[in-house]
Amino acid sequence: MSTITLPGLVDVHTHLRVPGGEHKEDFDTGTAAALAGGITMVLGMPNTSPPLTTPDTLQAAYQQAQAHSRCDVGLFAGASPEEISQLPGLARQSVALKIYLNDTFGPLRVEDVPTLMACFRNWPQGKMIAMHAEKQSVAVGIGLAATFNRPVHFCHISRREEIILIRYAKQRGLPVTCEVAPHHLFLTNKDAARLGPLGDMRPLLGTQEDVDALWAHINDTIDCIATDHAPHTIAEKYSESPPPGVAGLETSLPLMLTAVQKGHLTLSRLIELMSTNPRRIYGLPEQPNTRVEIDMTPYIISNDALQTKCGWTPFDGMQVAGRVNRVVLRGSVAYEMGRLRAAPGSGQMISDVRYNLR
Ligand code: NCD
Ligand code: ZN
Ligand code: ZN
Repeated sequence: MSTITLPGLVDVHTHLRVPGGEHKEDFDTGTAAALAGGITMVLGMPNTSPPLTTPDTLQAAYQQAQAHSRCDVGLFAGASPEEISQLPGLARQSVALKIYLNDTFGPLRVEDVPTLMACFRNWPQGKMIAMHAEKQSVAVGIGLAATFNRPVHFCHISRREEIILIRYAKQRGLPVTCEVAPHHLFLTNKDAARLGPLGDMRPLLGTQEDVDALWAHINDTIDCIATDHAPHTIAEKYSESPPPGVAGLETSLPLMLTAVQKGHLTLSRLIELMSTNPRRIYGLPEQPNTRVEIDMTPYIISNDALQTKCGWTPFDGMQVAGRVNRVVLRGSVAYEMGRLRAAPGSGQMISDVRYNLR
C-alpha cells in the first residue's frame, strides 16, 4: 500500500446551503464532506435563500457557520442590484464578493454594466471579486479587471474559448485568475446524456474539445481546482424542474490524484492547484500542523460512503486512487478511516482577509 501526505486542501467554491437549503446541506454535513475529501478550508457561496446580500443575513449565516462547522469556513458576500449600496457593510464578515453574470441556481444576477460598475466601486479595495461568468461574460469580467485595475477570479471555467481568452488576458499582464471544477475535467456532454439530471450543472458539461483544452492548460492557465460542490436532493433532481448542480467535495482529491497517477499532472502541481494558489488568490491564512494522509490503493466511489447530506455523486461507480485515511487539522485528528473526529463548531471562521498583491 502506498501512502502519501498532503497539506490541508482549500476549496474556494462550496455551496453550504444555509440559510434556506438545509434539507440539501448544512454547515455540519458540508464541512464533514470537506474533511472526508481532504479539504480543511472551504469558502461558502452566497446564493442561499435569502441570499447573503445584506449585513443581517450574512451575520446570521456567519454565526451558524461558527457554531456548526467542522473545518475552517469563509463566506462570500453576494451582489444583488437592489442591495449594491450595502456592499461595504458586508466586507468585514466575508472573504470576497461573488457576482453572477449568467443564469444558474438561485436569484442572484447582475446583468447590466451600471450595476457591475457599482459593484467595483462599492466593494472595498483589496478584497477579491469572483464571478460566475460564461462565454462572452468572461470578456466582460476581463474588461472590468483591466478598467478598474483590480483582480477578478473566474469561477468554474469550462469551455475552450474561455480558457484561451483567460490565457491571453494573463499574457497581457491583467490581474485575472481562474478555477476549474473536477466534473468539467472528468466528464463530457456524452456523460450528461447518460447521467440525465445528475449530470446537469452550470456551466453545462462540455465537449471533448473543451475538456482537452482544459487539460492542455492545467500547468499554465488554471490557477486552482475548486469543487463547485452544489448539492441538491435526489428527489429535486428527478422533479419537473431539476435544479442544476452536483456534489463534489468528496470526489475532487481522489479524481485529481488519479490524474496524477496517469501522468496528467505532477503531485507538486496538484498541491499548487488545491492548496497554495487558493490561499494566495484570496489571501487565506495558513493552517499550521495540518495534513491529509492518503492511501493510493484503487477503490470505487460509492453513493453509500458519502458524508454530504444529498447522498449522491455523478462519479458513483468510478474507480479512483486516493482514499483519504486521516485528516489532521491544527494538530487534532479531524477525520479518520471514514469517521468524523472534529466536532461541529471546532472549525475556525475566516473573515476580513485581503488578497496579496504580488
Ligand atoms: C450552483 C448551485 O446549485 O448553487 N449550481 C451549479 O450548477 N453550479 C450554482 C452555481 O455555482 O452556478
Ligand atoms: Zn456558478
Ligand atoms: Zn457554484
